[in-house]
Amino acid sequence: MNPPGFSEANEPVARVETPAEFETETDYRAELERTRSQLLVFARDMSAVYQRKREHEQKLGALLEELRTDYLSIVETLALVVEAKDQYTANHLERCKRYGIALTSRIDASMITPQLQYGFLLHDVGKIGIPEAILMKPGPLTPEEMTVMRTHPLIGVQIVAPMRRVLDDVTVEIIRHHHERFDGNGYPDGRKGSDIPLSARIFSVVDSFDAMTTDRPYRKALALDEALTRLRAEAGRQFDPDVVAEFEQLMQSIQSPEDW
Ligand SMILES: [Fe+2]
Repeated sequence: MNPPGFSEANEPVARVETPAEFETETDYRAELERTRSQLLVFARDMSAVYQRKREHEQKLGALLEELRTDYLSIVETLALVVEAKDQYTANHLERCKRYGIALTSRIDASMITPQLQYGFLLHDVGKIGIPEAILMKPGPLTPEEMTVMRTHPLIGVQIVAPMRRVLDDVTVEIIRHHHERFDGNGYPDGRKGSDIPLSARIFSVVDSFDAMTTDRPYRKALALDEALTRLRAEAGRQFDPDVVAEFEQLMQSIQSPEDW
């Protein structure tokens, strides 16, 4: 609101009716001028405060970005620690991420977020807590060893719990549920069908596909056709049949592994 006697442009109007509390129009004009000066000072102060606030926000934004980058470095380091410790061949995580993104794009592209990709990278982070004698064992695990191995999804959830600022529910869902089975016989929660988060149902297919198509200490890689046949055989049992069908179509559209 403009002070009395001022126009919209803050210019004194030509004729001013002097209020009764002022003895002369000159007194009144002097008071108006003081008020105007105070308002200008106030406006300048406000502008300076706003400018400082903007600078502060920019600094804060840059710091948050640095923090986010640091968190991501931690995520990648954690993932690489698992890869180094695990028996999987090199680049298993990177391949799983690529396959996972390609398959998710076909099913629901809106699901592709950085957090989904962190889930793909960190799915086995809980293996950090599994003894190497079990993790590196070349042969089949005993029932007791299998029980220990099956704790890795929940250990993973605990490991990433302090990082919830950058890892959302999707990341945690993949870590927790990537060993659930579509028929309900998986672990750790024995979830069944669509009760298993879609992100985990997708990841389960690409993780298994990569495991089958790469050399392991105890067996050679399967041919792509054989791996697909096995995925198909497990559709509705280990895997979501719709996800397997999408994966088959994805495979048909790919000419060579470099196309991923
Ligand atoms: Fe796993």
